[in-house]
Amino acid sequence: TMEYYNERYRPQFHFSPEEKWMNDPNGLVYHKGVYHLFYQYYPEDIVWGPMHWGHATSKDLVVWEHKSIALFPDANGYIFSGSAVVDFDNTSKLGSDKAPPLVAIFTYHDAVAKKEGKERYETQGVAYSLDNGETWSKYDGNPVIGNPGEKDFRDPKVFWNEKTKAWSMLLVAVDHLQIWSSDNLLQWEKVSEFGKEQGAHGGVWECPDMFKLVVEETNEEKWVLLISINPGAPNGGSGTQYFVGDFDGETITSDQKNPRWIDWGTDNYAGVTYNNTPDNDRIFIGWMSNWNYANKTPTQKWRSAMTLPRKLSLRKIQGDYELINYPLENLNELLKTPEERTIIVESGAEETISFENFNQTEIRFTTKARDFHLTFKNKLNERLMLTMDGDKKQFLVDRSLSGKTDFEENFGGIQQMPITNLPAGQFEVRLFLDRSSIEIFINKGQYVMTAQFFPNENYTDLSIKNTGVGKLSLGDFKISTVKDIW
Ligand code: FRU
Repeated sequence: TMEYYNERYRPQFHFSPEEKWMNDPNGLVYHKGVYHLFYQYYPEDIVWGPMHWGHATSKDLVVWEHKSIALFPDANGYIFSGSAVVDFDNTSKLGSDKAPPLVAIFTYHDAVAKKEGKERYETQGVAYSLDNGETWSKYDGNPVIGNPGEKDFRDPKVFWNEKTKAWSMLLVAVDHLQIWSSDNLLQWEKVSEFGKEQGAHGGVWECPDMFKLVVEETNEEKWVLLISINPGAPNGGSGTQYFVGDFDGETITSDQKNPRWIDWGTDNYAGVTYNNTPDNDRIFIGWMSNWNYANKTPTQKWRSAMTLPRKLSLRKIQGDYELINYPLENLNELLKTPEERTIIVESGAEETISFENFNQTEIRFTTKARDFHLTFKNKLNERLMLTMDGDKKQFLVDRSLSGKTDFEENFGGIQQMPITNLPAGQFEVRLFLDRSSIEIFINKGQYVMTAQFFPNENYTDLSIKNTGVGKLSLGDFKISTVKDIW
């Protein structure tokens, strides 16, 4: 571990910037054996400011290498979120047929215009790289899409559309999605809109993404649309909803009226997926924070990390299409030999197991039980409490006593996730703790929660309480220390 990576809250197996402020993942694209991760970055401070695109690369999405800043603000504005594609046929003519360019499409945010009270402060721009993403140039005809009169008009996600044999761009405009189309990534035309009457609308729509998935164990194909929203998430502040439906190449149709959430925890926002992956895998990375307190978390040199990369799939469960997200198999390489325990707890009883440091572990077990508490504790008696409640059919994360919480009034609120569609019988519970974050995956990614927490010491005890009537049996119980990636 590099020295500066040893700060108390610094994740050891998640991506975080070397220093300073980071938010959304941007420009996720796989190209010539390399996964690129760009991100919203402010290199001068640990709070949000004039946005750049920071850059990192990985061969396996596990170990990352920091690269130099890819995009700097210019006269058109800050560089907000967006995506990147490989322009294989050089449709943009920004590269050559022999050496097709990587093209990034992002939002320009004109902070001066906004300050002056003008409404049309967000437009879309293009940049390209002719050296596999090492260095980037802005297109000299920017912006490529002007502002049509929408205040918040941003976060372009571009993908190749097989139906129209053209590029499609998803854009959010305040409270709905727009789809635009182009033959060359430079001239765009609006084709449709979606969502004014559907899903959650407690805040601004941000960071759209859309892709086709084959429903597990069938040949059925469905489209999934991701829309981040802030505020308006089920546990406050920022969250990411999804829609399942169809897409004819131009228009989205979905009979889904109510919001569905990819992750019920407070700290998974602005997540999007990779373009151009091998085997067409849908790989998702989110920003592990929440606008309610992102600028205030108690770190010093850097702020915030990304979620673990997760593979998305669609499962039909009791008649519903559910979007599943589950950590990539590659991550198993980081797990040290597990310690196995046998956990059987009588009704009403509690058992405590100790471990040198729970704050860098993967923990998993299978169970049929629907009623238990898991409480991580440290010597200061700070505690992170997880509750499975079969009566209320919900899972709770309580970080009110987990450590530092006073940087934000509602940080300690109890987070709830309804568990109403869990199939009968055994299911898996898998947890990843990394110094200041927990990711909870129930039934292989059917129910997911991600949350930050800031203990003053590492947790060394885990108590398991049986709140149900019969014996509590947690099978195949394993604790693995996770290797650090730096
Ligand atoms: C989401 C977001 C985006 C925007 C970016 C600015 O977290 O608000 O909509 O492009 O962050 O940094």
